[in-house]
Amino acid sequence: MKKTSRKGVIVGTGFVGTGIAYSILNQNILNEMVLVDLNEDKAEGEARDLFDGVTYTNGNCRVKSGDYSECKDADVVIVTAGINQKPGQTRLELVDTNAKIMKSVIRSVMDSGFDGVLVIASNPVDVLTYVAWQESGLPQNRVVGTGTSLDSTRLRMQVANKLNVDPRDVSAFIIGEHGDSETAVWSHATVGGKPIMQMIEDGEGITKEDLDEMYVAVRDAAYYIIDRKGYTNFGIGLSTARVVKAILNDEHAILPVSAYFEGQYGLEDIYTGIPAIVTENGVERIVELHITDEEKAQLHKSASELREVLDSVR
Ligand code: 2OP
Repeated sequence: MKKTSRKGVIVGTGFVGTGIAYSILNQNILNEMVLVDLNEDKAEGEARDLFDGVTYTNGNCRVKSGDYSECKDADVVIVTAGINQKPGQTRLELVDTNAKIMKSVIRSVMDSGFDGVLVIASNPVDVLTYVAWQESGLPQNRVVGTGTSLDSTRLRMQVANKLNVDPRDVSAFIIGEHGDSETAVWSHATVGGKPIMQMIEDGEGITKEDLDEMYVAVRDAAYYIIDRKGYTNFGIGLSTARVVKAILNDEHAILPVSAYFEGQYGLEDIYTGIPAIVTENGVERIVELHITDEEKAQLHKSASELREVLDSVR
């Protein structure tokens, strides 16, 4: 296993970037964290604010602001730069502005000599992960999008809340677009190892209608939150920290990230959310579940919507 210096650079210190920084700091995932932003004062202010609290984390992460040269020896660079959704706006509607920003950011990252793993969190994340890969010239496995890692944890929370069980004992994946066309893979959802579809058959306090309701609550979660607080940052912060931790610790964890398809599930040349094995080198491989025909059809519909948007910015 390659020796990591456990250095991470976070590009973008807006709501999402600082949510990620705070989550990573509290979980002692990095030894060095550098915040980069066009607004250097913002980056420095956020870095100093985080730095002041390090004593009360269970680590000694050196937090500072800096420029893109800091990416040279970083293990991971996390990109959050871009505009975020306004109330009622879809993630896909951000693509024109954010694709231009992503291309510029990735050029600056790669000019530093960066040779680690790129983690993309900016929206629309599946399209921008593809754009970042193309612009970076890195192998596709070393460009990873946060994908449906947040959606999947939202789904697990919905099921856990409904059944009053620990969400860590719920396994459930959302796949496809991190957005309106995402799919819940109920065929492989389990609670304490018991398939949720068997729980429905056994009348264990959950129905097919409940599944439909929970799916809608997950799909529309960002709109619900943005309508009330104007943005989201904690959920994406914690789910991105989970992905970064799996990379830094070479966990070989199976996480629903935005990964590059090369024929899996009948899809080619697209990045979108799917369970994949995450290691120190990014995505080792996509996990091929025997999903239902309906789930597969929805995944393909999601992929074709993403491809249409991608073709408009390539
Ligand atoms: C979220 O789902 C906005 O993509 C962000 O919270």
